[in-house]
Order: sequence, then C-alpha cells, then structure tokens
Amino acid sequence: MKVAILGGTGDQGFGLSLRFAKNHEVIIGSRKKEKAEDAAEKVRNILKEKGIDANVIGLENKDAAKEGDVVILSLPYEYTISTIKELKDVLDGKIVVSIGVPLATAIGDKATRPLLPPQGSVAEMVQEKLKNSKVVSAFQNISSKALEDLDNPVECDVLVCGDDEEAKKVVMELAEEIEGVRAIDCGELEMSRIIEVITPLLIKLNIKHKLKGAGIRITGI
Ligand SMILES: NC(=O)c1ccc[n+]([C@@H]2O[C@H](COP(=O)([O-])OP(=O)(O)OC[C@H]3O[C@@H](n4cnc5c(N)ncnc54)[C@H](OP(=O)(O)O)[C@@H]3O)[C@@H](O)[C@H]2O)c1
Repeated sequence: MKVAILGGTGDQGFGLSLRFAKNHEVIIGSRKKEKAEDAAEKVRNILKEKGIDANVIGLENKDAAKEGDVVILSLPYEYTISTIKELKDVLDGKIVVSIGVPLATAIGDKATRPLLPPQGSVAEMVQEKLKNSKVVSAFQNISSKALEDLDNPVECDVLVCGDDEEAKKVVMELAEEIEGVRAIDCGELEMSRIIEVITPLLIKLNIKHKLKGAGIRITGI
C-alpha cells in the first residue's frame, strides 16, 4: 500500500514514516519538495541501519496526496483547512486519516488546553471540507517520541473512528502493524470529539511526571 503523509516533515510524520516504511511505500509530503526529500532520506538512513531497505520518497503535498492510497494529514490543526482545500479533487474517494489535535497553541495559549473547531473535532472539520473522501480519525494519542523509538514497542492503544467501515478497517490494520499498538474501533467519526481532547491531558501528564510519551490503554475489551 502507498501511504502518503502530508506535513510528514514534522515530528509526528517522521515517527509514523519510520513505523510504516517497514511494510509500505511511504510518500512524505511538504510545502517544499526539497524538505520532503531530506526527510525521506533521513527515514531511509535510519531504517537502513536496522537492516530495512525502505521505499520512502519526498514530494510536494499535492503530488504526495495524488500518490497515496491512504493519505495522513500530519499538519498543525490551524493549517489543515488551508492545506486540504487545494487538494479536494485529488483526495476524492480516498481514505484520509485525520490525526490532528485541536490545541489552544493555535491562538498562542497552552498545549494543555483544547480549542475545539466549530464542527466539534478536527476530523469532522476535515470531513466537512472533503465531502467525497473517507475520513478516519486515529493516532492522536500516540506521541512522536514513542513512534521514533524503534527499539521499543509503542505502549498505546490507538482509538479509531469513522463513518466508512471499510476505511476504518484499513486504518486499524495499519495501526496494528506498529509494534505494541492495539487499535480500538470507537464508532462513528463524531467520537473524535472525545478522542482528540485526551491528548492535552497526555501532554499535561508528560509535563507533570517528566515523561516523554505518555499513552493510553483501554481495559475490559
Ligand atoms: N508531535 C506529536 O507528538 C503529536 C502527537 C499526536 C498528534 N499529533 C498531531 O499530528 C499533527 C502533526 O504534528 P507535528 O508535531 O508533526 O506538527 P508540526 O511539526 O508542527 O507540523 C507538521 C508539518 O506541518 C507543516 N506546516 C507547518 N506550518 C504550515 C502551514 N502554515 N501550512 C501548511 N503546512 C504547514 C510543516 O511541513 P512543511 O514545512 O514541510 O510543509 C511541518 O513539518 C498535528 O495535528 C498534531 O496535533 C502530534
């Protein structure tokens, strides 16, 4: 499968690229092709040291979106709409994964406070803009630090929700390829309102307890 990661030059995109490039072709997207190519080279080199000959390339966001079977939006919340509005046609019919967390940092406030968009969640905001894409919400509660630590499993459940059952299944299978991750089907896309606001709590726990990558586990399932 081809996994495109728009804004994949950032911390979370880097971590996801490292994990997904073991089994998939990864296309890192950026506003600048050169920056994407540099990020792709970094991922290839790290995996090479682990004996993995990974297929990772860097392209501009639009070309990455065209290439991907699954397109992950690894963009700051406040720049998500401005980025995807140009890509509506390209993303038609595709599985689009919303990983964005609505943090108050978007208005210069604290990362421990959520700032909800009018649609209720980032994922619903994305679905409203991309009416013909299959939007799935996932990966908000995994930290980039845990993802990039390839020597250890990621101790985190990935809460997944979406209105297209097939698309959700594809993303859950992708999530479970990350060692240590269990994907949990949380129902319809609107459940993202609750999933996304868990992350400011995890950020608070990181600060309070001097952790690098707090995660969550659901019991009883
Ligand atoms: N970091 C984490 O641990 C973590 C954990 C869970 C969820 N998330 C979520 O994952 C997403 C990405 O997180 P991140 O930490 O990787 O973010 P980031 O580093 O702040 O940004 C990711 C990329 O977005 C692009 N970008 C920056 N400003 C932009 C603009 N004005 N317009 C378009 N693109 C712009 C940049 O790529 P180019 O300059 O290459 O275009 C940047 O590398 C966020 O929504 C975050 O809430 C992050």
